[in-house]
Amino acid sequence: CKKLSSTIQEAPLTSDVAYELADIDWDSLGFALMPTDFMYIMKCSRGQTFSKGELQRYGNIELSPSAGVLNYGQVGPLDLYMGLFEGLKAYRKQDGNILLFRPEENALRMRMGAERMCMPSPTIEQFVDAVTATVLANKRWVPPPGKGSLYIRPLLMGSGAVLGLAPAPEYTFLIYVSPVGNYFKEGIAPIHLMIDTEVHRATPGGTGGVKTIGNYASVLNAQTAAKAKGFTDVLYLDCVHKKYLEEVSSCNVFVVKGNVISTPSIKGTILPGITRKSIIDVARSQGFQVEERFVAVDELLDADEVFCTGTAVVISPVGSITYHGERISYRNGGIGVVSQQLYSALTRLQMGLTEDKMDWLLEL
Ligand code: COI
Repeated sequence: CKKLSSTIQEAPLTSDVAYELADIDWDSLGFALMPTDFMYIMKCSRGQTFSKGELQRYGNIELSPSAGVLNYGQVGPLDLYMGLFEGLKAYRKQDGNILLFRPEENALRMRMGAERMCMPSPTIEQFVDAVTATVLANKRWVPPPGKGSLYIRPLLMGSGAVLGLAPAPEYTFLIYVSPVGNYFKEGIAPIHLMIDTEVHRATPGGTGGVKTIGNYASVLNAQTAAKAKGFTDVLYLDCVHKKYLEEVSSCNVFVVKGNVISTPSIKGTILPGITRKSIIDVARSQGFQVEERFVAVDELLDADEVFCTGTAVVISPVGSITYHGERISYRNGGIGVVSQQLYSALTRLQMGLTEDKMDWLLEL
């Protein structure tokens, strides 16, 4: 395990408060796992509720080869024992304090997902308390202001041994964290998407609307193929009509035309992104008309801008989308003004640089 005292670096003083920082290169953070000091673990048996968790040194966990999550975790949208995960971020304020962005929304989404997956889940209070404890235990890993954020990854899994398809006898809620910078190597520069007309991310009646690990495993093939062709990622269409936008592998999508911003409505196959929800509110507060509805792929042709949202990606402008071999470009491959405006508004709020009128921040 790491030595706490030997890796201390003094933060540059941005106010009168100095704080301890891990000794890493804060200027080169990407989205790769960097092991930190502590993780949080809470277990519960089938039919019970979560009651008491604890911080442990970060490290590998032991699982039965027959753990529900290993055996039934990646097999398809209708199985019961997929794992669930969440993603949220902590930001360092100028005064050294730490801000969490809407953690109770993640708690709520995990509860809704757990209900769909027949798993017990922590209460909202337990979830937020556990996130807070984990972040505070790892606070030297929260990047200095403007250098990135601490990505927080809560997991919920059927950890008990099971052979046939049946409820796992034990469940584990676990949180680990990692300092991160930009998700896409492009950073805030526009990304390039392709529409895969053969692969669909979700099906009606399935689990596209909950944050199951299976939703992410199932797009890796399409994503890998797109990357091999030089694209950043894949934009998926609905599997019934094959003409309505759904989302990108790891983020929601928005289409801008004049003052109107449209995004696929949450109808079971779309992940209810917390950044998606926040951007809708931020955009409306800035005078945009936001529509949640079916967005046809043809609308991409005369859109002014397209951008993606997600906790990990924040807001990512889209420079081009290739559909049936035709490339549709936006803003000459540059960052759209609306994307830029919303990116600034959201990130300034998350970093505590503007007033939190919506009461979205939890200061630790
Ligand atoms: C997030 O944005 O937090 C996600 O969970 C997406 C993940 C693929 C990084």
